[in-house]
Amino acid sequence: MSKQFFVALLLFALGPVSLSFGFTPKSPLVESFQKGLATKAKKADPGFTGFSADRGKAFYSLKHGDHKKKPETRSCETCHTSDPMNSSKHIITGKKIKPLSPLVYRKRFTKVKKIKKWFRRNCKWTLKRSCTAQEQGDFIEYIYSL
Ligand code: HEC
Repeated sequence: MSKQFFVALLLFALGPVSLSFGFTPKSPLVESFQKGLATKAKKADPGFTGFSADRGKAFYSLKHGDHKKKPETRSCETCHTSDPMNSSKHIITGKKIKPLSPLVYRKRFTKVKKIKKWFRRNCKWTLKRSCTAQEQGDFIEYIYSL
């Protein structure tokens, strides 16, 4: 086997692995925000054992019906795209939205007031109800797993 071929093979084999190992470090603010959510989630469900990035990912792309009884058309992706690393456009106003990932946009998840405000608004629009503490915690876990 030539050396070049071996190196190419090695890169090919390692590529997908190294891509799936990304994660974003959490700030103390995010840690404590999630801790508060965990307390609430445990209260709502004594079987709760912790937040899950996988569940958060599924939640992020899960489609819900809209207010006019149209079938499943709304999800977090509607405004934030399927990749939280992307900037996007608001589906109604067309205004630019910066990426949700703090890895790309450092101001994300730096103000509790802002996090709460947008969970309130976006969950209402997307799900026609508030997001539960577990859904919020899972969603944050997903964003920080990227
Ligand atoms: C109708 C459009 C729309 C949908 C759908 C939507 N969002 Fe958003 N979201 C926004 C806008 C607009 C902002 C604020 C603009 C900005 O900060 O760039 C935002 C910001 C956020 C933030 C603020 C983060 C921070 O600290 O800056 C969070 C968290 C968030 N969205 C979560 C969600 C989740 C979870 C869902 C799905 C349940 C969702 N969004 C669906 C439009 C949307």
